[in-house]
Amino acid sequence: MSFKQKLNKELIPSHIAIIMDGNGRWAAKHGNARIFGHEHGVESVRSVVEGAGEVGVKYLTLYAFSTENWARPKEEVNALMALLIHAIEEETEKLNKNNVRLGVIGDTNQLPTEVREKLFRCIDNLSPNTGLTLTLALSYSSKWEIIEAIKNLAEDVKEGNIQPKNINKELFDNYLSTRDMPDPELLIRTSGEYRISNFLLWQIAYSELCFVEKLWPDFRKEDLFEAIYEFQGRERRFGKTSEQIEAN
Ligand code: FPP
Repeated sequence: MSFKQKLNKELIPSHIAIIMDGNGRWAAKHGNARIFGHEHGVESVRSVVEGAGEVGVKYLTLYAFSTENWARPKEEVNALMALLIHAIEEETEKLNKNNVRLGVIGDTNQLPTEVREKLFRCIDNLSPNTGLTLTLALSYSSKWEIIEAIKNLAEDVKEGNIQPKNINKELFDNYLSTRDMPDPELLIRTSGEYRISNFLLWQIAYSELCFVEKLWPDFRKEDLFEAIYEFQGRERRFGKTSEQIEAN
């Protein structure tokens, strides 16, 4: 039986976040330049988006480019930006057919104008869709996002719109770029690295973490189903005891 068939349809995580890692190592393994790995990574993105839609995941958030990635060699950054433009142009129609909505989180002002314009046009075109929401984290880092949230919250306190005593976690959630989605129940990282790398630090407080050995360009929807299957076998206690969870 495949992992897809083994899944409990009642327990599909509504939000899955993925740290797509290992493109560079995959390219080196194949004797090629790093961008070759990124190019093949797009096929994995395609497969995972399809798979997520097939099993009814509502939100899929992919870490495509971090704030820290700007420090990579200019050549790789430029090639990644060109790849993004190409992927947006190539995939919009298919995403639309699959009823996928697109979103972005991150400091998009840092993106080259062409990437920004194409990205926001694509987001606009797909906005009437009602299926999976695919969010790309681009020029994103969690500490950047939290600082932005604090700045905006401080402004609202200064203006007298919010009393400091009323600040709680639900209110803070509303200042984050993920305000319209639930927190991820499952976070996957590929390539055998055991790090979070400044991704959704606030939102993953109670996420299940799944570290996969495969490099991102080798990851396919079957691997996503396997990770969801593993997730379904976990006991999520949210700080309570096993006995309390069983009694519920
Ligand atoms: C991490 O691997 C991957 C990236 C920094 C880029 C991810 C981009 C893609 C998968 C392609 C474009 C994405 C979309 C959404 C169309 P790495 O380069 O850090 O690999 P390494 O750790 O082996 O060096």
